[in-house]
Amino acid sequence: MERVVLKESAYNIKKGKILNIKQMTENEKLFEIALEGENLGHQPGQFVMVSVFGAGEAPISLSSSPTSDGSFELCVRAAGKVTNALHRLEAGAEVGIRGPFGKGFPVRTFEGNDLLIIACGLGLAPLRSLIRYVFDNRGDFGKVHILFGCRSPGNILFIDELKDWNKRTDISFECTVDQVDCARPDWIRYVGLITTLIPRVQIEPERTFAVVVGPPVVYKYVIKELLSRNIPERQILLSLERHMKCGLGKCGHCQIQGIYCCQDGPVFNYGEIKHLKEAF
Ligand SMILES: Cc1cc2nc3c(=O)[nH]c(=O)nc-3n(C[C@H](O)[C@H](O)[C@H](O)COP(=O)(O)OP(=O)(O)OC[C@H]3O[C@@H](n4cnc5c(N)ncnc54)[C@H](O)[C@@H]3O)c2cc1C
Ligand code: FES
Repeated sequence: MERVVLKESAYNIKKGKILNIKQMTENEKLFEIALEGENLGHQPGQFVMVSVFGAGEAPISLSSSPTSDGSFELCVRAAGKVTNALHRLEAGAEVGIRGPFGKGFPVRTFEGNDLLIIACGLGLAPLRSLIRYVFDNRGDFGKVHILFGCRSPGNILFIDELKDWNKRTDISFECTVDQVDCARPDWIRYVGLITTLIPRVQIEPERTFAVVVGPPVVYKYVIKELLSRNIPERQILLSLERHMKCGLGKCGHCQIQGIYCCQDGPVFNYGEIKHLKEAF
């Protein structure tokens, strides 16, 4: 497994200024952040360590495409100490940024092939970076199918963008919720688990890369479905989440049976990690 080579600057905390904050759902906000005088220079699928002064640091995936210069976006769920402190900040506040870290999605390998992108819940945060990158370089990729699933209509992230994706004629997009809630009783799309959408997509397995990001419970069932559609194991990409402290392969917090999620991942192909029981 190839490990990311870190630059000297990976150890430095850079000052980031919050330019804009958008409330996305009850628990998730989108932060637009700019570094002082430099671009972040990330790849879709990579993450940064964000520090809120006085609260601590947390790993957060990049949600914006590297094709948008000047600032970057993070979609953050208020989960605990750091992320709640981040949610309490206002535009103009400063945060610390280390990174970008980790191996992202192998976009060069995807070129010329078809993509089946499957996002569940907050998994849309890193996949939005990939999706926007693909849209900005649309001619480099074959067919693009996007499937999104979440708990209920009230939990849908990036809803305005999803409406635009739905109108595009150069991709296919489908969305499902586990259940309808009172926030959107008028829901007219699918109700059911994400796995129910996969058989609806026409694919040529040998030229399809499936990219899946979601909570661990989803992987087991989605991978089974993708394998049954004959997509090769090495063409199934997933992003794993582990507790992280350093983000750069030193502390061991993110270790899964000898693999460092922060440096060997967080993006892996199924073939290289299927033997790791702890990964799922
Ligand atoms: C590579 C990577 C990418 C990630 N990308 C994203 C992303 O794009 N967006 C995002 O939102 N998250 C992302 N995460 C997850 C995020 O890093 C964690 O949610 C974050 O580290 C939590 O830090 P914290 O200090 O806010 O929570 P902590 O205080 O460390 O809490 C951790 C967990 O404990 C539980 N907990 C904490 N306080 C309480 C409480 N009072 N009651 C009950 N339970 C509690 C919560 O379930 C919480 O998830 C990513 C993680 C990794 C490893
Ligand atoms: S987070 Fe420290 S080794 Fe991965």
